[in-house]
This record gives sequence, C-alpha cells and structure tokens, in this order.
Amino acid sequence: MSEFRLNPRYIQKFDSEDLKDHSFFPINKNEDGKLIIASVGKNKHDLEYIQSTTKLQTGLNSIVYQIEESSFNREFKLIGNGIYHRFITVERGKKITPRGEIFAVISNKGGVGKTTISIELSYQFHRMGLKTLLVDMDLGNADISNKLREYPPNTLYDFFSKTHTLNDLTIKLNLGMYFIPGESGEFKLANMTWSQKQRFFREITKISSNYDVVLLDLGAGISRDVIDFSLLADEAVIVTTPKDFISGYAAGKAAFSRFIEIQAKKLDDDSDEEVIFSPWYVLNQVSNYQQGIDYFKTIKTTSNNHINLQSSFKFVPGYLGSVLYDREMVDSAYNSQKILGNRYPNSEMARSILKIANGLMRVKNELKLQNKSSGLKRFARILGLAKKEDSI
Ligand SMILES: Nc1ncnc2c1ncn2[C@@H]1O[C@H](COP(=O)(O)OP(=O)(O)OP(=O)(O)O)[C@@H](O)[C@H]1O
Ligand SMILES: [Mg+2]
Repeated sequence: MSEFRLNPRYIQKFDSEDLKDHSFFPINKNEDGKLIIASVGKNKHDLEYIQSTTKLQTGLNSIVYQIEESSFNREFKLIGNGIYHRFITVERGKKITPRGEIFAVISNKGGVGKTTISIELSYQFHRMGLKTLLVDMDLGNADISNKLREYPPNTLYDFFSKTHTLNDLTIKLNLGMYFIPGESGEFKLANMTWSQKQRFFREITKISSNYDVVLLDLGAGISRDVIDFSLLADEAVIVTTPKDFISGYAAGKAAFSRFIEIQAKKLDDDSDEEVIFSPWYVLNQVSNYQQGIDYFKTIKTTSNNHINLQSSFKFVPGYLGSVLYDREMVDSAYNSQKILGNRYPNSEMARSILKIANGLMRVKNELKLQNKSSGLKRFARILGLAKKEDSI
C-alpha cells in the first residue's frame, strides 16, 4: 500500500473532456517516475488508450489503477473545485481509493479558541459539500461535547481501552458533520506509547477513506502526545491569538524539534536533502485582519532569524488567515444551542472561517496554478463549477 497526493499540474496537461469521456485522471508520479492513473475502465483498450494519451501529453510512462465509478465521479467534481485528495494504491488487484485529509488543531496555550475553530471549520467544510469527521481528542475535558451539548454514550476512551472501534464511536450530528467524542474525567491522553498512537493513526487513516476531511481537536498544551499526533496528521494547524502569539510560535518550534528528531532517524548521515516542516497558523481573536498578518509575519521572521539559520531542516510556517474577536456573537450563537456558522452564516466571522477552510483544502502551489488561465479553470468551467469556488 502506498499513498500519493493528487498533483494538479498533471491534470492540466490533459484535455478535461477526454478525461471525463474515458473516466480517468492522473494522480502523481511514483518513485519510479511513472505517472499513476486512476481509471474506471478495466478492459485492454481502455488501458492502451490511457497509456498512449499519457505518454503523448506528459512524456511519462504510466501505471493504471482502478477506481470505483462513484469515487471517480466524486473526485472529478472535487478536482474541478480545486480539491485534491490523497489516494491509497493497493498493488494486489491494482486498486486505488481516495482518502480524506487529516488536520490536527493544536496550540501551546489553553483558551485560544482551538475547539471553537475546530467546530466552526468542520461546519464550513460540511457547507462546502465535504464529508467531515470532527474528533475530540481532548480526553480530559470533552469540550466539543460541552459546546455542542452532545454526549454520545461511548467516547475515545473506549477506543483506547480496546472495546470499541472508531467507527463504533462515530455519530452524525444534526449540523451534518460526523463526530467522535472525547472523554471528560480523569483519563488523559498522557504517556501513550508510540505504538498506541500509531494504532490510533492507522485506524484514523483507515476511516479517512470514508471522509473528505478529518479534523482532530487536540486539546490544550504541547505534550509529546499532542505533538506526535500533529505530526502524524497530514497538516498541523496552530491556533494562536495576538495575546498568546509567543506561545503560538513556541508550539510551532516544539513541533519542529520533534519533527527533526523523527525525520533525522529516517535520513542518511550524509544526506544534504532539505527537509521542510510547514504547519499552518490561524490567528484568532484579532481586532482587525492586518493585525493577524502582522503577528504572523513576526512569527515567520522570528523563525528565520532563530531556527532556520544553519540546519538542513527548515521551519516554514504558512498563514491560513485570522478570525476577529467578537465575544458577543460567539456567546450568542453558542447560548442559543447553535454554533456561529449556522446561527450567523453570513457574518464576518463565519466568512473568515470559510476562507480558512478553503485555504486548508488547497494544495500549496494553488496560487501559481490559478494564474495560468487554461488548465483547471477550463476544467472547472466544463463542470459548471468555475464560479462556485467558495461555496461548492
Ligand atoms: N474569535 C473569538 N471571539 C470571541 N470569543 C472567542 C473567539 N474564539 C473563541 N472564543 C471564546 O474563547 C473561549 C475559549 O475558546 P475555546 O474553548 O475554543 O478555546 P480552546 O483553545 O479550545 O481552549 P482549551 O485550551 O480549554 O481547549 C471560549 O469561551 C470561546 O467562546
Ligand atoms: Mg479546547
């Protein structure tokens, strides 16, 4: 089993109508330099056609894996909207399946808004048409349950006690997202062994093929466990505020140190490969958007001046956006048994969270792609989606 993230630059090389008519799309290059193709068809003619078209359009040899027709149709739509999943290939039977992105939300300090941002983000993902799983990894204080007033009988505690699978624990919320609750009480996610963490991640990765997005709210602090979970996820999101931005920087730095420790074991001693760690930052509770940008710039400059000087490991934080401080609105939404996204769907706050959700689902070179007028835009137009970028 291997995993590949769809790289849109290959899609641009094909005629999108051709892809649609012949039910295939390129994913990415494998380590042998072959282009991995997902295809619905399985007869010899389909294969021959795909392989010769691929060679013609990209100059690359290809290797074709079979994707379920329903997955193909769904992924094709998502690609038109600029959403590029990861795909898992299975050599036996040459099958390929998409899987959802796993995001971990962390912070150094408590009370910066991780849980609020996780809930609101998951709701915006749902509004974008993405099947979303929200996981409350705060096992001492099941705060998502508190905020949503949802207390399902079984929690992650039952997963770690090996009595339940993650699927057993998953419920569908009225808001539309799926939810795995955390536990309130004495149980802490402390001192878990690496293998317990890996077991959780194996399971989460397995069930991520049923979702487009999996969001982990990791609870306060940056214990070894929290950091490890954030590194096992596809992307780490660090929430910080103007008041706490130094600890926001510290959270990134702590994750980076652990990242180096883990990566260093994988690299040869004489490797001069540059290894980059890129967590995302969200500035919450800002008084205006410029303030968010300014604080992020400070974090970035500080990283460059203090941690990126010599090492071949680089810390390159990305900026996702900021959310305004509005106590009254947050309280009013949550006190009326709702959340901000559905109580005030058109508010500035909800819009800024939607923007962050959009940002998170995009590949990093998306801006470059958008400047090229052909490719994806044309692809989106064919699918009739070009104007719906922000509300799929
Ligand atoms: N942008 C915002 N404007 C106003 N209030 C906010 C905002 N974001 C969060 N809050 C409030 O701040 C408090 C802390 O938020 P939240 O519980 O989401 O933080 P947290 O980081 O998850 O905390 P913990 O560390 O306890 O898990 C809550 O009362 C929440 O309503
Ligand atoms: Mg919380």
